[in-house]
Amino acid sequence: MPFTIAIDGPAAAGKGTIARALARHFGFAHLDTGLLYRAVGAIGGDPVAAARGLSPADLERDDLRSSEAGQAASRVAAIPEVRTALVEFQRRFARAEPGAVLDGRDIGTVICPEAEVKLYVTASDIVRARRRALELAADEALILAELRERDARDAARDVAPLRPATDAILLDTSDLSIEDALARAIDYAKAVG
Ligand code: C5P
Repeated sequence: MPFTIAIDGPAAAGKGTIARALARHFGFAHLDTGLLYRAVGAIGGDPVAAARGLSPADLERDDLRSSEAGQAASRVAAIPEVRTALVEFQRRFARAEPGAVLDGRDIGTVICPEAEVKLYVTASDIVRARRRALELAADEALILAELRERDARDAARDVAPLRPATDAILLDTSDLSIEDALARAIDYAKAVG
């Protein structure tokens, strides 16, 4: 039976870092589901057609990490048909043997409600903006404003809004080093697995 680890949370909370490290630790496949929405946003044109025709090569574009791509992703992610078009690919990925780690906004609530481990990784928006500004070498105040706008849109949308699954373990990384956050995430996953 494949083992699925679902990691959700707001932008720049450390989900990606934790998801990659967990996948490496357990020898599981990893999918950053935000990339799917970023690619759909970056392709432009009709987002529903872009989502339906999404190919692995679309995920390799090098303009997907920018904050503009994040904003575009968050706009297309509110369209129900876009989300529906991406469900099957994510669910199939989640069944990879011996296991898979998926990170995003709705993994524990919609994509993999039966996941063995669910983590909701969060941090204060000030801390998240500081981390993302360092990573992108960008202005912290500008990033903070963008993060707030994106989180508000992601949490307020009608379909698959950003929220912790009722059975998710909350991991607030505001005051944790990367090493401590990873150690906790691995301990949680081991306790279940
Ligand atoms: O995680 P990342 O910042 O790359 O996600 C970009 C945007 O894609 C998010 O702000 C969100 O609107 C959307 N997203 C989503 N559901 C997911 C992953 C990402 O709606 N599972």
